Amino acid sequence: MNTPRHFLTLLDFSPDELQGLLKRASEMKRAHRAGADQRDFPGKVLAMIFAKSSTRTRVSFEAGMAQLGGHAMFLSPQDTQLGRGEPIEDSARVISSMVDVVMIRTFGHDIVERFAAHSSVPVINALTDDYHPCQLLADMQTWQEHRGPMAGKTAAWVGDGNNMCQSYINAARQFDFQLRIACPEGFDPSPALLAANADRVQLTRDPAEAVRGADLVVTDVWASMGQEEEQQARARAFAPYQVNEALMAHAASDALYLHCLPAHRGEEISAGLMDAPDTVIWDEAENRLHAQKALLEFLLRSQGH
Ligand code: CP
Ligand code: NVA
Repeated sequence: MNTPRHFLTLLDFSPDELQGLLKRASEMKRAHRAGADQRDFPGKVLAMIFAKSSTRTRVSFEAGMAQLGGHAMFLSPQDTQLGRGEPIEDSARVISSMVDVVMIRTFGHDIVERFAAHSSVPVINALTDDYHPCQLLADMQTWQEHRGPMAGKTAAWVGDGNNMCQSYINAARQFDFQLRIACPEGFDPSPALLAANADRVQLTRDPAEAVRGADLVVTDVWASMGQEEEQQARARAFAPYQVNEALMAHAASDALYLHCLPAHRGEEISAGLMDAPDTVIWDEAENRLHAQKALLEFLLRSQGH
């Protein structure tokens, strides 16, 4: 069996490959808007395994694969043998023998790693409890499209040290920017990940300190999928960590703010910022489509398609 390329975290691609993907994503976006025929992969099939809910990820992968001339297949544990205990390893061998690329959204990060280890085709992490690298492609594309290269800039993460935060730590390393993280005690990202990136990632309890002079401010929900029963306790712990107009006043005058969505207005982000006419959050959401088409193209080409 050949060893396929996978995209489980941003560290699976080199900084040059990631920059190439972003460039290609912006090109494909322009071409798509100009009405270009992008059906370069007729007959290619993407299997999409969703163990958690999704709007953006499902729509962007399914629409993207159709625009590339291929087909996307939605699979959920409830309707497949995955939900009845068929081992991940066996499922990976079987599913990858029939399709050209696989996308997985699930809980433990070990599940995508185990699937990838037994897959004969590329596997894409479409969110685990630990990482959400596809969202970072869209976020970096958005930041770069609006403000130019990220290298040497400063981003602030405000909120939970969750899968998005941990992907921002990887992004800081791969795209060469500084990252300041403000989160309440008890909600830090992985200590090992912080230690491995101590040269460019700082942790504070003070949102204003993290945001001071920053070029980009990012937040996400306070309770991620799978943490629904912690919602109330988390709302109390995170109350001082809302990204709002007062907090943004500490950032650089041309700072952008991002949110991967879905958002809770009045919790992690103010309604005013969400509904501001000049917010780039909707570009960020749309860029999921373009960035993932570039990713699918890269991975399919890496298999000789
Ligand atoms: N941002 C994101 O991944 O959205 P969905 O959960 O709707 O896919
Ligand atoms: N941190 C959130 C991101 C949703 C796209 C979650 O895991 O639910």
